[in-house]
Amino acid sequence: MRHWCTALTYTSRLFLTHLLLRRGFLATSLPLQDLAAPLGFNISLYTDQVPRPRYLAISKTSRPPISLTYISTNGSQVYALIDRQGTGAPEVVPILDALTQPNGVAWLNGTLYVAQPNAILQYTGADDAVLAGKALGSPGIVLAPIASLDGSPKILKIGPDRKLYYSVGPSCDQSGTCRCGDAVASAPQVHYCSIARVSLDGAGATSRITGVRDVGGLAFDPSSQEPVVAFTSQHPVPAKGPSASDDLLYYQDADDAVDLGAPLCQWHGRGSPIVRSIGPGNATADATNAVMPQLITSSGASGAKQASCSGESPPPAQALGPRVAAMGLSFYPGAQPGYNSTAPFPRKYVNSTAFIAEHGSPSSPAKPGFRVAAVTLTSNGTEANATAHINFISGWLSGGIPWGRPVDTAPLLDGSLLVSDDLAGAVYRVTYDPQALGGLP
Ligand SMILES: *[C@@H]1O[C@H](CO)[C@@H](O)[C@H](O)[C@H]1NC(C)=O
Ligand SMILES: *[C@@H]1O[C@H](CO)[C@@H](O)[C@H](O)[C@H]1NC(C)=O
Ligand SMILES: *[C@@H]1O[C@H](CO)[C@@H](O)[C@H](O)[C@H]1NC(C)=O
Ligand SMILES: *[C@@H]1O[C@H](CO)[C@@H](O)[C@H](O)[C@H]1NC(C)=O
Ligand SMILES: *[C@@H]1O[C@H](CO)[C@@H](O)[C@H](O)[C@H]1NC(C)=O
Ligand SMILES: *[C@@H]1O[C@H](CO)[C@@H](O)[C@H](O)[C@H]1NC(C)=O
Ligand SMILES: *[C@@H]1O[C@H](CO)[C@@H](O)[C@H](O)[C@H]1NC(C)=O
Ligand SMILES: *[C@@H]1O[C@H](CO)[C@@H](O)[C@H](O)[C@H]1NC(C)=O
Repeated sequence: MRHWCTALTYTSRLFLTHLLLRRGFLATSLPLQDLAAPLGFNISLYTDQVPRPRYLAISKTSRPPISLTYISTNGSQVYALIDRQGTGAPEVVPILDALTQPNGVAWLNGTLYVAQPNAILQYTGADDAVLAGKALGSPGIVLAPIASLDGSPKILKIGPDRKLYYSVGPSCDQSGTCRCGDAVASAPQVHYCSIARVSLDGAGATSRITGVRDVGGLAFDPSSQEPVVAFTSQHPVPAKGPSASDDLLYYQDADDAVDLGAPLCQWHGRGSPIVRSIGPGNATADATNAVMPQLITSSGASGAKQASCSGESPPPAQALGPRVAAMGLSFYPGAQPGYNSTAPFPRKYVNSTAFIAEHGSPSSPAKPGFRVAAVTLTSNGTEANATAHINFISGWLSGGIPWGRPVDTAPLLDGSLLVSDDLAGAVYRVTYDPQALGGLP
């Protein structure tokens, strides 16, 4: 994701840590014992052999006990993790190279989709090739490289409507001024700062959700037959004003085109900025654009936009806290038939809880984020209210210095949950074992 305020000194320190990790000096000493999760959950290292791992896509046609996972990197490669025996120790295979920022990955019917900033590539028959140890064929192109589309890393998911959903960032010029709302010249139905939908053959690209900044991840409600999308949106740090606005979790029916009001509408959660109280908090219209001098809309701070903040713009399901850097999220559907190697998570998490990777803000004194948050939602199929917001996994800070930064979460078919971490260079596997508690539920 685009980070609007990165302290260089901190970046250097992270980079140094990262170098040490990649060179193996620290790899064997990842302090997994420092990671805390609710009772009964256990966190183990799935792999540390993927450099700077980013987003995850799980194959759903692999047969038990096989687990097949695709994972993008902050680099030019995409990897496959093949756990043939379901032991939690996968083979790690680089399957694609020489890509440009292959951030978003998605899977459907044995086909792998990879989103670069300006293109979406389709690798038909990826599962068969990977499991047979063969190279992937040349990709088909769903969205051709488009020079005028923004250059930000794309989030990519496939909805229950078998369409691709992808994020479109702001359009930024040389001076660093960024704009939301304008139509993309080569795709007039697609707007900057939106989530767009396109058919698998590349037809009909259209923004469904506009006025949304820096989408960090999206997922579809597994219990809804509709394309109901939950997604995270990062909000930039204000240059002025009392406090940063929150990163947000939204829940929207993707069949209803909706404008969420960014950048002129700001949300602030209630309670502790580190773990916000349940709910969306309060909206504030930013009449002057003082909060985000680097971001303007083509329409400017119009009265209509301000009114929509308090009136028509739907609230988020949950305000996640300022600068937590909310990224990938997933719902947990439980173990699939035939997979019995792992005890599934307790029922209260199944289908209704979004597990959100929060990358964290190293330069902020309070060090918000650096955790996996869990938000439990009560939905009626088109809207949802949060009923819980907890720290699900934390402990990636040691003495205020991060040793890991979660990027994405994804449930394996065996009922465990994977978490990627691009600072430690790790993928973790979270399992649940009530026996470890002496039989408590
Ligand atoms: C928990 O994970 C650790 C590895 O981090 C592993 O050694 C241990 O056996 C696991 N415990 C249970 C109860 O699964
Ligand atoms: C499921 O468990 C049974 C017995 O506990 C075992 O025989 C079987 O191999 C397991 N299947 C898988 C797919 O792990
Ligand atoms: C990839 O890593 C570089 C260097 O560490 C960093 O500057 C950049 O922001 C990262 N890209 C993403 C998409 O995280
Ligand atoms: C899934 O892919 C196979 C070929 O790999 C194809 O024959 C089949 O029609 C596809 N199914 C759907 C529903 O697209
Ligand atoms: C969760 O959603 C799946 C559909 O994706 C459904 O098959 C399953 O029954 C649901 N489980 C629960 C406990 O609601
Ligand atoms: C936020 O909203 C609550 C009620 O929803 C209200 O009581 C509170 O005063 C509001 N706070 C601010 C700062 O507007
Ligand atoms: C969400 O909460 C509002 C206010 O309490 C209530 O009117 C609405 O019915 C709730 N929606 C769902 C889906 O629970
Ligand atoms: C969900 O609740 C909202 C408002 O409470 C309502 O507008 C919507 O029609 C409801 N959806 C369903 C599927 O009942």
